[in-house]
Amino acid sequence: MLQIKSVSKSFGDKKIVDNVSIDIPKGSITILLGESGVGKSTILRMLSNLEQVDAGQIWFEGKPINHETQQREHLVGMVFQQFNLFNHKTVKQNITFPLEKVLNVPKAEADVIATDLLKKFNLSDQAHKRVSALSGGQKQRLALARTLAMKPKIICMDEPTSALDPLLTSYVAQIIQNLADQKYTIVIATHDTVLIDKLDCQVHLMQGGHIVESAQSKNITKNTDQFPKIKRFVAGHPPIL
Ligand SMILES: Nc1ncnc2c1ncn2[C@@H]1O[C@H](COP(=O)(O)OP(=O)(O)OP(=O)(O)O)[C@@H](O)[C@H]1O
Ligand SMILES: [Mg+2]
Repeated sequence: MLQIKSVSKSFGDKKIVDNVSIDIPKGSITILLGESGVGKSTILRMLSNLEQVDAGQIWFEGKPINHETQQREHLVGMVFQQFNLFNHKTVKQNITFPLEKVLNVPKAEADVIATDLLKKFNLSDQAHKRVSALSGGQKQRLALARTLAMKPKIICMDEPTSALDPLLTSYVAQIIQNLADQKYTIVIATHDTVLIDKLDCQVHLMQGGHIVESAQSKNITKNTDQFPKIKRFVAGHPPIL
């Protein structure tokens, strides 16, 4: 279980995340949904220790996730919206480089891990190309492969489908679902409501720093009276404040 416990975060005098608590079972997919600027990426950044919490705690399997545990165990991997790949390196080097530099994996071993991951993500024939020569969908897969190489237990994905056409969105959704089936815990920040249809996931709608409604994706459309706020968001209507 990944637990976000009463977490708050301000930038300047603006409270972006206000006392948010979410329990996320291992091997599940969680979607943080909400308008631009509502704090979705900020929560992912706090999960992956790129941003410190002002108040509250983040726990995983009974242990706090903080700077020290993250440095030591790399529990949380982040797939960034802009991918943050090394554009001047080859596709394969994007996987081997962090393995060698961060985890001190020997070169030959890193090469085996990278070759295997590139095969899994259908990128073997791109291995020696520069990242700048890849399409958006290929970059997304490489970013995910690079994150998985570090053996995280939790994978945070920021707008994973923003650069993808509908066909690739379905394909990436399938990959995400498979990762959850393999017991990775996945947390996604997105406003792409198509993902809700494609994933078996828990959806949390954020407004004004709070989670204002939560639903299991398969239940959203079951009952017309339930989950009005999520339904309004999905339909593109402004929230009723
Ligand atoms: N390092 C920072 N310094 C100052 N303000 C920040 C910082 N990071 C985020 N913010 C502000 O916090 C708010 C939430 O940002 P965040 O990126 O979490 O939103 P988001 O929900 O992911 O939006 P989007 O859908 O556009 O990606 C925004 O107003 C943003 O400008
Ligand atoms: Mg964001």
